[in-house]
Amino acid sequence: MNTLDAIERAVKDTAHYVSSNLANYAGRSGTENPSGEQQVGGDVWADDLFFDALSYVDGVGGYASEEREAVVDCGEGYTVAIDPLDGSANLASNNSVGTIVGVYDGELPASGHDMVASTMVLYGPYTTMTVAREDRDVVQEYLLRDGHSERWGTFTLPEEPEVVGIAGKYNERSDSMNEFAQQLSRELKLRYGGATVADLAQVLEYGGLFGYPATESYPGGKLRVHFEAAPLAYLVEAAGGGSTDGHQSLLDVDPDGLHARTPTFLGNTELIERTENAL
Ligand code: AHG
Ligand code: MN
Ligand code: MN
Ligand code: MN
Repeated sequence: MNTLDAIERAVKDTAHYVSSNLANYAGRSGTENPSGEQQVGGDVWADDLFFDALSYVDGVGGYASEEREAVVDCGEGYTVAIDPLDGSANLASNNSVGTIVGVYDGELPASGHDMVASTMVLYGPYTTMTVAREDRDVVQEYLLRDGHSERWGTFTLPEEPEVVGIAGKYNERSDSMNEFAQQLSRELKLRYGGATVADLAQVLEYGGLFGYPATESYPGGKLRVHFEAAPLAYLVEAAGGGSTDGHQSLLDVDPDGLHARTPTFLGNTELIERTENAL
């Protein structure tokens, strides 16, 4: 089993366990993560589980997490960058959450061009895992059920977009962003649920655009380059879609630190182009 297979297996096995125990970890833990955000019990619990599984994979040399200040040195090999529980605030309201894992061939900080694989797990009414790898020419989706996983299909973005979800408060976004969001709401159905993985799953299935723009609260955008934006851009671009920070592919963003944030837009290429023209 090569390292990418071993990483995939470790994520699958851990995601199985996470999906059946989330109910116990919805409450706040009273601690903050390196981005200065309140942690939910599940953030720390899931991070420890994924660390135990991934740091011991032969060929993983570094473990970087949204929930840890620095990269943990685990020897030689790829650096895995993980958002162990994406949209974790959704646990309190029993809405979908996810896990995002980017695999980088080298040390961090790094641009998305150093990525060799990306995985997103969606803990929804059922649990799926979507994987893009440099050694595969399709984006593969698996259904995780009863302790095993079955291939469920491959993803290519639908030609005709149907949904749009743009984050942020109207009063905290730029006029150009608000005009663009309003125009999209005339053309597409609104889908925004507070977890990027769950919102992006709608875009992958139905076609459309997900965005978290710069806002007054998050002038550089809210989503983190290494743990959210770049791994998800890797997936969407492998599925025939596009990504942008407003000017360039999210894979071109050169983060200045491990927890750097970026404005993030993911979806059909025509909508990505329109986003860049609108901002
Ligand atoms: P995380 O729980 O990993 O910190 O991610 C939350 C992110 C993202 O998943 C979601 O789309 C966004 O924050 C929601 O932000 P708002 O609550 O500002 O809408
Ligand atoms: Mn968080
Ligand atoms: Mn997240
Ligand atoms: Mn998270």
